[in-house]
Amino acid sequence: MSINQIGGKYFSAIAASSNNPLSIIKNYIKLLGLKLSQEDPAQEDLAIIREEIDRVTKIIRQVSEAAEAYANPLEELNVNDMIQDLYRIFLESLFAQHQIAVQTQLDPSLPNIVADRDKLKQVLINLMKNAAEAMQEGGLLLISTRGKIIRDGNEYIEISLVDNGPGIPVHIMADMFKPVSSTKGKGHAGLGLSIVKNLVDELKGRIFCQSNEISGTAFQILLPVMATGVLMDR
Ligand SMILES: Nc1ncnc2c1ncn2[C@@H]1O[C@H](COP(=O)(O)OP(=O)(O)OP(=O)(O)O)[C@@H](O)[C@H]1O
Ligand SMILES: [Mg+2]
Repeated sequence: MSINQIGGKYFSAIAASSNNPLSIIKNYIKLLGLKLSQEDPAQEDLAIIREEIDRVTKIIRQVSEAAEAYANPLEELNVNDMIQDLYRIFLESLFAQHQIAVQTQLDPSLPNIVADRDKLKQVLINLMKNAAEAMQEGGLLLISTRGKIIRDGNEYIEISLVDNGPGIPVHIMADMFKPVSSTKGKGHAGLGLSIVKNLVDELKGRIFCQSNEISGTAFQILLPVMATGVLMDR
């Protein structure tokens, strides 16, 4: 972890914990104002204190946003490389156990994107694990990339993961991106897909899913080529 990241996390924590005492002070000032009569000249002083507290709150919010960007820096990423690395790791463990064939179709002209590496990795791991866990009797997982894609005037890349497993149960489909009770029993919190959705939102991307018991499950993720935030020092 870089100094910037450590600093970012530290300031994030300070900013978060300063908000509580500030809102307590604000509440007490409100109470004090109610105890005094409306005509009391001290009401004006209280109004000034309130304004200043609002100003500090705003400053803390700005510091907190900047700190968050330093804690989770952006990098220029080659998504094809990331997929190939994960694929190699998983091929030897997860996929081999269940006799799952994995194919990749990676667009050689895929542009690099600017994004938080760890977040994207977590998204891909959760989806690859789900596919493997769904195809206990073997199956095929196709991972592909495509870019660039223009949506609403912005540039995106597309990552898709398509498996030919049993499909997502209908009762889960309706609210699949919320925490669910896992169909896999012990050791599974039912959180994987809700984490995926949160991370894709943080990456300013979009995620779509189509699933049925005949053809299996397909996830499509669109990620912006350029995100806004702090680019990691090289
Ligand atoms: N590729 C898939 N094919 C079939 N069903 C799936 C697939 N991905 C997810 N599911 C279904 O959606 C449910 C929710 O998935 P999610 O990843 O959120 O939780 P989980 O895998 O059960 O638990 P955790 O991810 O916390 O270990 C799963 O229990 C499973 O029933
Ligand atoms: Mg899961």
